[in-house]
Amino acid sequence: MSHQPATGRHDTAPVDTRRVDAREKVTGAALYGTDLHPDGLAHAVLATATVGRGRITDLDVAAAAAVPGVLLVLSHLDRLDLRSPGFIMGGGYGVQSLQPLLDDHVAYRGQAIALVVAETLTAATEAANLVRARYAPEPFAVTLDAEGVERISQPVAVPLPFLADLDVGDAEAAYAAAPVRVDAVYDQPSQHQNPMELIGATVWWRGDTVVVHEGTQNAGAIRHGLAQQLGIDPANVEVLSPYTGGGFGQKNSLQIHIAPLAVAARRLGRPVKLVVSRAQLFHHTSFRPASRHRVRLGADEHGRMLAAIHEVEHQTSRHDLFPLMYNEITARLYGIGDFRGRQTFARMDTQSPGFMRAPFEHPAAFAFESAVDELAYAAGRDPLEFRLANDTTVDPVSGEPFSSRHLAQCLRRGAKTFGWSARRQRPASMRAEDGSLVGWGVAVGAYPASIVPSTAHVVAGVDGRVRVEVDGHEMGQGIRSAIALLAAENLGVDVHAVDVVVGDTRVATQHLTAGSWGTASSLGAVHAALRDLRKQLGADVNGPVDVASAVRATGRDTVDARAETLGPGQTEQDGERARQGHPVIAGPEFTGYSSFSWIAHFVEVRVEPTTCRIRVPRVVSVADCGRVASPVTAASQVRGGIVWGIGASLREAGAVDPRYGGFLNASLEEYPVPVNADIGTLDVDFIDEPDLRFHPVGVKGLGEVSMVGVAAAVANAVYHATGVRHRRLPIRIEDVLAATTAP
Ligand code: MOS
Repeated sequence: MSHQPATGRHDTAPVDTRRVDAREKVTGAALYGTDLHPDGLAHAVLATATVGRGRITDLDVAAAAAVPGVLLVLSHLDRLDLRSPGFIMGGGYGVQSLQPLLDDHVAYRGQAIALVVAETLTAATEAANLVRARYAPEPFAVTLDAEGVERISQPVAVPLPFLADLDVGDAEAAYAAAPVRVDAVYDQPSQHQNPMELIGATVWWRGDTVVVHEGTQNAGAIRHGLAQQLGIDPANVEVLSPYTGGGFGQKNSLQIHIAPLAVAARRLGRPVKLVVSRAQLFHHTSFRPASRHRVRLGADEHGRMLAAIHEVEHQTSRHDLFPLMYNEITARLYGIGDFRGRQTFARMDTQSPGFMRAPFEHPAAFAFESAVDELAYAAGRDPLEFRLANDTTVDPVSGEPFSSRHLAQCLRRGAKTFGWSARRQRPASMRAEDGSLVGWGVAVGAYPASIVPSTAHVVAGVDGRVRVEVDGHEMGQGIRSAIALLAAENLGVDVHAVDVVVGDTRVATQHLTAGSWGTASSLGAVHAALRDLRKQLGADVNGPVDVASAVRATGRDTVDARAETLGPGQTEQDGERARQGHPVIAGPEFTGYSSFSWIAHFVEVRVEPTTCRIRVPRVVSVADCGRVASPVTAASQVRGGIVWGIGASLREAGAVDPRYGGFLNASLEEYPVPVNADIGTLDVDFIDEPDLRFHPVGVKGLGEVSMVGVAAAVANAVYHATGVRHRRLPIRIEDVLAATTAP
């Protein structure tokens, strides 16, 4: 069973730490973007391309248009007057720069070629299936090894400082001189987020204003990107996303269907809704790119790591360069004096890949922490002791201290809880009573701690209620609960007297919520607004406030305070870029220090000797995320991250067939994710030490670091169980069988 996470706040009165929106969620009162059913609603369905790449030579929509109830079929034949939204990582707003439906070019299998709108979902679905296209196919490439993949060094293609090659010391020379060395290549597949809430939107016009309801992590980008696409004033775009049913990076920008839906809604004078099907999701939006990592590590005879060289290539589309940032954490995991990082794009014919939970850190940590395990064995050291011996308090890249780093404490506490001291070092030396091979693996993870510009507006009412309107999105991670708890604790009011408004461009900018910066960024602004509110209410700097009386004493019905905050080192220019809907990120390097969240994972696997089926009966994870802002949702985040890691190590892979393009296994039947039966005991614990150098209330980030290192800990445990090292994910039964039955 999970430990009750420590809150570190035993000196204050007990607070209700439940998820504040739990009741709405379990009763169905929480309405997601596509739960809306406004009067006159019309339903949209996409028709998609069936070639890997080419040109549409003939598009026949007559049969589709003839289906009873069909209102509109939009395609490139309509010469839609839409501009590109630009790619979110290329200075724009979109999930990719390519806006389908504008011309006859098909860039990838599954690309939208028509949007059918009808009175009913049934009619729209039937009609979409009747859209007929003929193509002039063109050659395409969809795997890292395919002919036609174009490789470009990242610093050559995108000469931006934060994407530069990393060179600390002389890693090639230090590696060449190291007496103990590892040189290995690790392969990881493309993956798809598959959140519970499918991608989709409900869109209508109110006069000259377009209203978009969509589950998103970035209402601001939708607002400004859609305005750019339609050529209208952003003031005439309203985006609302009170709830998002899982984002994981997939919902971090303007999706390709929003502009066509806006066009359809305007032409029809009716609201239009689209829910992208699970199968179409695999080609409709971003995904985790396949990546290949060569890691070379060197150590001395005493188990001191001397050199690391981490070279990565990952897939991107022909039309966009999704950046690589894998070295950012691998250069910081240990006190390695000589580090070299190289990152390369591999352009191929898919939609643009993008951020999927722990987008760089998870694949980077799988590769690097597998290699560290290999190095520990090569050096004849226990993998836990080896990691502890190479700990550092200084950021090897900047030479500055970390604002906080309790990674060694995470490792020690996790090892104790897990019972690591009973481990036998020799692989394949531990057995369970039923004869299964038992393996124990450890790995660590890190994730940059960042801050973005944020705003908060706090309104105290004469009824004693407090409303907090923020720049931030709730996608299940618990930002609403964290904000409500902070306001309730600060003012000494009941948490249920606090209402939190998120994801609404009418009340705040709505900067991208991602990169595990959401809670830290919002809480900073809320904290500042509360300070001002207390002043206006004539309250002391600390201590409980009788909100109703204090407001009444002012003679007004409400008293409000507003705060706009920037990250350390950010300027008003950064604030303005954020207001224009662009991501503006401070960190993880700041003046005088670097900030990261840290985690250690301990994993037990059992490998059934006949079938080679791998089970994960237990995981112990200890995180250093600074202050734990909301204990219940924080523990959920870590459990979720562990499940993601188990999925990545044993289950999830986009299957790609070089003959057809696209992704073959575009369904949850064929793209298996972990289910309850796959998950054993998850024991989650927190260091819960506030990082006040990084943040005014001591919060770093948690969501993504939770996943980082899990896959390596699983793979290291499989090695310990079987004596065979697996360097390609996911590790499947056939891989273990092949390795154990090989002559
Ligand atoms: Mo997260 S992958 O930065 O939404």
